[in-house]
Amino acid sequence: MSTAPQIAFDPNDQFVSYGVSPKYFQLFAALTSQATRKVEFRALIEGFVDSIGRALHCDCAYIALLDPEDSQILREFATQCPHSDRRAQQLPLISREEARWLSRVVELGQSVTFVGLESESRPVAGVTGFKAQCHLPLVNRGRGLGVLTLACFAENVFQETEISFLENVAAQIAIVIENAGAHRQIAALKEQLEGERVYVEDEILARAKFEEIVGSSESLVRALGQVARVAPTDSTVLVTGESGTGKELVARAIHKRSRRADKPFIRVNCAAIPQSLIASELFGHEKGAFTGATERRLGRFELANGGTIFLDEVGDIPVDMQVALLRVLQEREFERVGGGRTISVDVRVVAATNRDLKAAVEAGTFRLDLFYRLNVFPIRVPSLREREDDIPLLAKYFIERYARTIGKKIKNIDRKTLELLQAYDWPGNIRELQNMIERAVILCDGETLSINESSVHNETLEKLQRSTALSEALTNTEKVMIEGALEETRGRVSGPSGAAVKLGIPRSTLESRIRSLQINKHLFRSERHQFSTGDVGSW
Ligand SMILES: Nc1ncnc2c1ncn2[C@@H]1O[C@H](COP(=O)(O)OP(=O)(O)OP(=O)(O)O)[C@@H](O)[C@H]1O
Ligand SMILES: [Mg+2]
Repeated sequence: MSTAPQIAFDPNDQFVSYGVSPKYFQLFAALTSQATRKVEFRALIEGFVDSIGRALHCDCAYIALLDPEDSQILREFATQCPHSDRRAQQLPLISREEARWLSRVVELGQSVTFVGLESESRPVAGVTGFKAQCHLPLVNRGRGLGVLTLACFAENVFQETEISFLENVAAQIAIVIENAGAHRQIAALKEQLEGERVYVEDEILARAKFEEIVGSSESLVRALGQVARVAPTDSTVLVTGESGTGKELVARAIHKRSRRADKPFIRVNCAAIPQSLIASELFGHEKGAFTGATERRLGRFELANGGTIFLDEVGDIPVDMQVALLRVLQEREFERVGGGRTISVDVRVVAATNRDLKAAVEAGTFRLDLFYRLNVFPIRVPSLREREDDIPLLAKYFIERYARTIGKKIKNIDRKTLELLQAYDWPGNIRELQNMIERAVILCDGETLSINESSVHNETLEKLQRSTALSEALTNTEKVMIEGALEETRGRVSGPSGAAVKLGIPRSTLESRIRSLQINKHLFRSERHQFSTGDVGSW
């Protein structure tokens, strides 16, 4: 055991120390100045080790911080061998046995020194042969954080007064390390919170609009029963169903009924993110990772930490990103774009799609392994056609909602209108019903809402079919005209006698139409050799 430090003020207010060399005060001053500088955590402990190692002429010095969960695992390790030939050598990593020993020093809460043969046989940072070694626990308010270890090839290095002084140094280092750790945590939380705020504001808006899932039909109740069962678990859920059936409402309901309810619900619209930005959106990026990455940005997975990530329209994710998604679903680990650090997250995954994923797998556009990862607990939300019984309830719900919003008093819905609504096919499902009611509420002058037959009658569907037929016809006509022009110009696109001039459109537009209509312009070139005109133009 060491004695108390001999540092005090004399009666004339002069600072005195008994038996402690002034170089230690210099060291103390150097450490204090480092501790107050704004540096990264790792740089901080490396700086400490470097200063101590040099000041004490040690052949090896290190700070080993232990994992709070398992004290035999090192969380952080900084080493220096400033005056040794071994300096250039890459020191081996600390062995598990040495880590076990360090955790004992921490438990003990006291410095331990070895000299002579006993020291020589004990490895320090994997190296043996040191004639003296001193291990000082880094303890702050009873919490063992790690060990400061010093070792020398010379004997009689660590005298009692010096050890006593080093114990003070170790105590100060422990305070700084703990504070820096706390700051690091606060900074990470702040970063997460700031990122969250942007999304949460979006979320609040969306949520304020529609909060409940309305309906009592058998098929909907069955689906909601599944929601209730799976919500409290952490299982991945795949919500399927036609467009506008309420898949997003179901995903939110799963989150709300889970233990993660007070944590973020982060939606990712996989169909809406430009392909080049998918990785950065999902996993975040470091500052300078690519042109325009002026700040570090957290990805959606990181923002969802502790909560739920909702992968909407997951069937639309490009094939190359499916691999990255697979990894994060399997290991809950990823790297930010431009960053080397692996980040672990605790997220619950809910995905939704209106596509037939099995068919996409068969067509080779969706990975089978990803499909299995997502399809852990599938919930199919029924279409409105399958739950005709819910139409009166939903109509009433939307009438009340919109009438309230625009300050109208609508008490009833006319019977004929209700029959019309129930007879309709609803290809756009609840979203379409909602929109139709909103329009009708705006137009309604009295207390009874009515919708005339013409606006309900399968018009949307017919219009859709008509428009599909029309667009097909237009495409065919366009193709025939372009092919005709190419034939006339023997495949020539530009130039005064090229197809673009003939058709009266810019060359670039024609090139792009040729590509999208998959016309092989080279087919028209075969005859060219026989009829070469020598025109200037591109092929
Ligand atoms: N059962 C319901 N009760 C009340 N509102 C509903 C219900 N189902 C859906 N809605 C409303 O209908 C609209 C469409 O729902 P949602 O966005 O969840 O559909 P979706 O299945 O995700 O559609 P898409 O595949 O097009 O994304 C939303 O405004 C939603 O609030
Ligand atoms: Mg949706």
